[in-house]
Amino acid sequence: MSIKKVHDKQPKNFEFTSENLETANKILNNYPKKNKKSAVMPLLYLAQKQNNNWIPLAALKYIGKFLSMPYIKVYEIATFYTMYNLAPVGKYFIQVCTTSPCLLRGAGKIVKSCQNKISQNQNEVSENGMCSWTEVECLGACVNAPMMQVNHGYYEDLDSESVDKILDSFLKDNPIKPGSSRNRTNTAPENNKINGVNNA
Ligand code: FES
Repeated sequence: MSIKKVHDKQPKNFEFTSENLETANKILNNYPKKNKKSAVMPLLYLAQKQNNNWIPLAALKYIGKFLSMPYIKVYEIATFYTMYNLAPVGKYFIQVCTTSPCLLRGAGKIVKSCQNKISQNQNEVSENGMCSWTEVECLGACVNAPMMQVNHGYYEDLDSESVDKILDSFLKDNPIKPGSSRNRTNTAPENNKINGVNNA
C-alpha cells in the first residue's frame, strides 16, 4: 500500500476499549512497576487485535503514553517485529512462508497464486477488501511444507490447486478449514498410516 494511502487511513485518535483497558492493566500487573515498559509487546498486540489486525500511528503514541515511554521507542519495536502490521490488511491476512524448506517444496507457486488472485504486490489489500498477503520467514511447520498462515490458522501440504481453492474461499468470505490439504493428521505420514496401520 502506498504511503499516501496508508496516511489517508490513519485514524486521528486511538484508545483501548474499556474491555481492552482492563486487559492492558492486567498485563501490566505481570511486570514490576519499575519495568512496566516491558509490557510494550503484548500491548501492541492488543492494539492490533482491537484495530482489525493493524496498528495505527495513533495507537503507537497512545501506548507510549500508557507506558511512559517515548513514542520513538514504541515505533522502533513495532517496526522491528514482522508480526505487527503498520498498515491496513485484509480481513484474511495471508502469510506465505518462503524460507528454504517451503521454497524447495513449491512456495513460489503459492506466491504466484496470491499475486494472481489477491494483488500483484505484497501488502496490498484485494479489491473486495477480503485478503492481503505477505512473504514471511519460517513459521515452524516445515514438516508440512509448503504452507501459509491465514489469521490464526495454518494451511499445509499445499500445491497450486489447493492454494487456489483456499484463496477463493477467503475471497468469497467463506473460509475452508485450516490443516493439511492432503488430509494428514498433524504431521502423521501420508494417509495417516504408520507401517500400514491407520493412525487417525
Ligand atoms: S520453512 Fe516454511 S514453515 Fe519452516
